[in-house]
Amino acid sequence: MTTTHESVTTPEGVVAARFRPPAGASSAATLPLDGEWRFRLFPRADTGVDRAEPGDDWDRLTVPGHWQLADAPRSWPYGVPEYNNVLYPFPVDPPHVPDENPTGEYRTTVRLPADWPEDGRTLLRFEGVDSWFQVSLDGELLATSHGSRLPTEVDLTDRLRAGDEHLLAVRVTKWSALSYVEDQDQWWLSGIFRSVSLEHRPTGALDDVRVHAGYDHTTGIGTLRVDAAAVVAGAGAVAARVSVPELGIEGGTGEELRAPVEPWSAEQPRLYDMVVSTGSETVKLAVGFRTVAVQDGVFLVNGRPIKLRGVNRHEFDPLRGRAVTPERMLEDVLLMKRHHINAVRTSHYPPHPHFLDLCDRYGLYVVDENDLETHGFLEEGWAGNPTDDPAWTEVLVDRVTRMVRRDGHHASIIMWSLGNEAGGGRNITAMADAVRALDPSRPVHYEGDFSSDDVDVYSRMYADSSEVELIGQGVEPPLERAAADARRRAMPFVLCEYAHAMGNGPGGLSDYDTLFDRYPRLLGGFIWEWIDHGLTRTDPDGVEFAAYGGDFGERFHDGTFIADGLLLPDRTPSPGLLETAAVFAPIRIDARPDGTLLVRNRYAFRDTSHAELRWTLHRGAEELAAGTLDVVLDAGAETVLRPPAGLALPEPGEAPVWWTVRAVQHTADALEEEWCRPGFELGAGQLLLVAPAELPAPAGRVTAAAAGGFEAGPARFDARGDLVALAGRAVHCFRADAWRAPTDNDHRAAKGRGTADEEKWRGAGLHLLTERKVGVSVTAAGALEVDARTAGPASRAGLATRYRWQPVTDAPDAVDLLLDVRPEGRWPENVARLGLLLALEEPSAAQTGVRWTGLGPDESYADSTRAALGGAWEHTVADWQTRYTHPQENGARRGVTSTVLTFADGTGLRIDAGDVAVGARPQPGVELSLRPWSDDALERAAHPHELVPDGRLWLHLDAAQHGVGSAACGPGVLSNAQLHAAPFTMRLRFTAL
Ligand code: GAL
Repeated sequence: MTTTHESVTTPEGVVAARFRPPAGASSAATLPLDGEWRFRLFPRADTGVDRAEPGDDWDRLTVPGHWQLADAPRSWPYGVPEYNNVLYPFPVDPPHVPDENPTGEYRTTVRLPADWPEDGRTLLRFEGVDSWFQVSLDGELLATSHGSRLPTEVDLTDRLRAGDEHLLAVRVTKWSALSYVEDQDQWWLSGIFRSVSLEHRPTGALDDVRVHAGYDHTTGIGTLRVDAAAVVAGAGAVAARVSVPELGIEGGTGEELRAPVEPWSAEQPRLYDMVVSTGSETVKLAVGFRTVAVQDGVFLVNGRPIKLRGVNRHEFDPLRGRAVTPERMLEDVLLMKRHHINAVRTSHYPPHPHFLDLCDRYGLYVVDENDLETHGFLEEGWAGNPTDDPAWTEVLVDRVTRMVRRDGHHASIIMWSLGNEAGGGRNITAMADAVRALDPSRPVHYEGDFSSDDVDVYSRMYADSSEVELIGQGVEPPLERAAADARRRAMPFVLCEYAHAMGNGPGGLSDYDTLFDRYPRLLGGFIWEWIDHGLTRTDPDGVEFAAYGGDFGERFHDGTFIADGLLLPDRTPSPGLLETAAVFAPIRIDARPDGTLLVRNRYAFRDTSHAELRWTLHRGAEELAAGTLDVVLDAGAETVLRPPAGLALPEPGEAPVWWTVRAVQHTADALEEEWCRPGFELGAGQLLLVAPAELPAPAGRVTAAAAGGFEAGPARFDARGDLVALAGRAVHCFRADAWRAPTDNDHRAAKGRGTADEEKWRGAGLHLLTERKVGVSVTAAGALEVDARTAGPASRAGLATRYRWQPVTDAPDAVDLLLDVRPEGRWPENVARLGLLLALEEPSAAQTGVRWTGLGPDESYADSTRAALGGAWEHTVADWQTRYTHPQENGARRGVTSTVLTFADGTGLRIDAGDVAVGARPQPGVELSLRPWSDDALERAAHPHELVPDGRLWLHLDAAQHGVGSAACGPGVLSNAQLHAAPFTMRLRFTAL
């Protein structure tokens, strides 16, 4: 065996790929070899260690696992994780990699149990080893393999003697020629990170089982044909009996069996137990009957158009990296189901096979993706790209073949993907051909095939919604070659990545979703991405935090770009996931301008008889009336709802009155009961029926304070008109504001736009605003009128501000503020926020209680509004914060008409909002944000645990805030959510409690 880690060759000494039944599904014996192995790390691939060295005095390392994470989160005895997105962290010199190449030597002892069958073959199976490895038994080199996220099997039959101890030696290099084709955007993590086992293959075994389970939606008949093959002891068909007892069907392999069935879909993942038996081996598989087809440019499952409301999922655990446990996989699947996600792209490699078992069982459509990415070649125009190099053809075809063979029996897989960001070339064609030869039943996907010659669906990433609309209409700009263009125009369209969920975001999800629903050609897409890959580590004080690129001292890395998921690293749903759930809701309830609610059943296959529409009429949290609506909608149907005739509406009061309708699961069917309980929300929407009453006009007079300055109810001013105390506490900052701690999206330039929003805002000095008082006077009506100008350094852009304070008659603890602000000078094309910033002395700011009437309970921004509903909500300031992995603007609550703050000393402050307007546009209240630290501290913190309360409560009372967009990778804030510098006014009432 002459291949090395720098060879571009297919694995050697291995058994041809076969299918992988779920754990425990085969009657053949299996012996797990997971556990503590002996381990030593060497600096180079040539470790100099004898293959016969037992390593008895070496370290112990748990298999499966990555060696870099062996002692996470405390220490990094075997080198640290490194994060790179596109660029290779080593010289681009294929197929060579640096001599400095951490290489693990693993040892374990293998002994066949006494009852291990004597017949047949015994295979050693690796589910995943990163990146290149050699396998030796008793000092003899038997195999070399690679394909980090693909299985490898080595036949040990003739070498294992029952009862004897054998020394298994595995040498694993961190870097190899194959690293060039595994350049996915993730941590570089090495080692035997999936399970290892011995697998018995009886004589006449079912090595490969191909399941063809179709569903004819016109007749309701399921068809089943199973082809079985031997692989290990030479290729050839194998005769076996096939039965599905529940359906009463039975026959031989190669025969078509037919029966009326309930079909499989992600909505109703009906599976049937099938038994395939040769006599020497019996395999039980859960079979789903379903047919995937493309017809007239529309993607169909079981004859109906479906929409993929999907996410891209990397395998990730904050302590274990890609060595994910079955519990984590189940957690992911259930979290997806509970947030109305119906599809997963396994970016960018085949997942642990158990994940696919779960997708079959719980119902998720899967795009299974090949372990291939060569993105780093992009830098030099793809020169030398393996994807177009004949020297790599066999290796790449081998990879995709191993995926299709391993996973082909899963009902959940609806498309094969050839890889990600690997450029174009002849090997794409070769792989597509190989996939179709093995499995013609599923469309082939690959986004990097820019003219879609080798694929069956047109796929793009991060196209903006206006381009997606053109594609939906079928009027996108043509390809140069007419035939290729015609072929592509007949394809469904999928966004394999969109709505980049980095930090605070994604904004604009609804805009895409509306288009997906509108145009049959649009199949939907996959949000980038499921989870932030923040690895847990401790700081010098032992405090755990989620680490990103650079946090392990790596010199060459991509920083925070690894934290771009809908889940925080500990799997706490981010506000982005809650927004996703609301946008993806299968029963969508949307307010229409005519004062009605449109209810749409967005299931493709089921009616809504499992759901109940419950309504409440409420003022804040106070329920005024409630009822249910007798509505059952067929799949795809919609109806218009109005509040019941004769519903008594109250007079306008302090809080708005809403009519809220929720679609709630009332009977979980047998397929759902594990993940959704009765009461689970399938969609919600509301109408504002009674706007709050106007704040009565103030009519009191400010008084001169004994110590100089002025007093107005609970407010104290100095002689210059500076607000120095409010509700008995010192005021440290009170001025107009137009800045926010930049989000990851503010920080990057949107596709096709040269400058990031943040850069423009800094250019106008908005990050360093200060206020200059211009004048102070008491008006004839008794109000204190203070004029000021707020501006930053080096800029003429400023805010001319007039504060008009007036006490409230009969309310000695209240003061009204009428704020009138006009931008002066030249402003950037948009602005982060327009509002007021107030910092109050409060030693226990984080513990301050907040009750508010407005949208909630979670944060929302102008382009992520779907999840927030009007009502009355409660939090503490500490809970109000969203701990984005990389700290940034967070926590805004919109449409807030009143807020009650309760301080630790029992006192309080109430803030009511009257009329608020930006330009000519009235706003339904203020956008409220609260923090126990300043925006400056928020911006400077690299991780949430570095944020320390500073003894003040910082409040933003904004007339409006800019949306969030997804410029970190993709379009910026769309015009419907941009905030432009404009005159704004706010009327606020502060009451000391
Ligand atoms: C895409 C890529 C993903 C990820 C994303 C940015 O281009 O396919 O793997 O890197 O950009 O987060």
